[in-house]
Amino acid sequence: MEYEDAYEEVYEIVKPKYKLFTAGPVACFPEVLAIMNIQMFSHRSKEYKIIHMDTVERLRKFLEAERGDVLLFPNSGTGIMEMCVRCGVPTGEKIIVTSIGAFGSRFRDVVESNGRKAVFLEYDPGKAVKPKDLEDTLEKNPDAKAVTITYNETSTGVLNPLPELADIVRKHEKLLFVDAVSAMGGTDIKFDEWGIDVVFGSSQKAFGVPPGLAMAAFSERFLEIAENMKEKGWYFDVSKYVKYQDKKQGTPSTPPMPQIFGLNVVLRVIEKMGGKKEWLEMYRKRSEMIRDGVRKIGLDFLAEKGYESPTITAVLTPEGVNGTEVYEAMRGRGFELAKGYGSVKEKTFRIGNMGYMRFADIQEMLQNLGEVIEELKD
Ligand SMILES: Cc1ncc(COP(=O)(O)O)c(C=O)c1O
Repeated sequence: MEYEDAYEEVYEIVKPKYKLFTAGPVACFPEVLAIMNIQMFSHRSKEYKIIHMDTVERLRKFLEAERGDVLLFPNSGTGIMEMCVRCGVPTGEKIIVTSIGAFGSRFRDVVESNGRKAVFLEYDPGKAVKPKDLEDTLEKNPDAKAVTITYNETSTGVLNPLPELADIVRKHEKLLFVDAVSAMGGTDIKFDEWGIDVVFGSSQKAFGVPPGLAMAAFSERFLEIAENMKEKGWYFDVSKYVKYQDKKQGTPSTPPMPQIFGLNVVLRVIEKMGGKKEWLEMYRKRSEMIRDGVRKIGLDFLAEKGYESPTITAVLTPEGVNGTEVYEAMRGRGFELAKGYGSVKEKTFRIGNMGYMRFADIQEMLQNLGEVIEELKD
């Protein structure tokens, strides 16, 4: 039987056509794609155990998480929202959910669909959580068990002041769950110092690895609560992950091995590039270059000043121009940006700077963006 065409048929549909400035999945380092292309083997083998634990240790260092546990998961980031809620807070109890956009709202849906009560602290698109508001909400809800914070809101391009907010949560002795899906790998996380209980990320964002892998750090006190939690389900029971990692250097169910190899390569690339500080500096420079270029084109940002994201920029379209038109016109020129998201879909478009990207690509994208905006304004 001839089957050589099978690859060609699929490749024809999915082959790379654009330079990516997406919100994720993002372009990956060629070295990441290369390691993911190797033949598979058992996830209970000695070789897998070595790479699993090495990845965990490298990630622990990156997240500055000496206490508690760092774990890898065979699901995307949303699964860890589910895990925080089911393992950390009993059914019927209150969780303060802060929301500055679409992913804060998703956390509320996860809380409520799991039978817990959400106290919703919501802001208009472009705004960050204000410490005073969080303080007031905590004072009004002394019975709340936990607080959720979206570190970087991908839908609006806003970075929350996490260290300051974490201080307040710690003062009130609540658990702190941090969605760092589009922050981890692109901006600093000091797990121990900031007193976080759970922080989670997804592979397809700032580490520049294909989707399918979530990674997270958990505090000792969260793991203790989880151990005694009733009816927390099976797949998202964090206690099982801790036991399997300790005893078998792996995961309870089959892990996304290629993504874990890819993440390991990226964590080594970071070391070889000079370490976390240098790597995060690269992210800062990329996002600043994008914001400078957008300003020169004459456009403004959705994010309030001082809270701009280092991984994704939401740009306000000029009068009479629709965000989707900009997105389509840029695709026509070989650049895939991201459309606006949620309630600001029509009046924004987004430029991601996560994953594999060169500064020259950013310049070229900005040049084209300037021309596209002029054309659409006519
Ligand atoms: C801030 C944020 N939280 C959560 C998610 C959901 O992550 P995943 O798609 O990996 O489940 C995303 C995805 O874009 C995100 O940007």
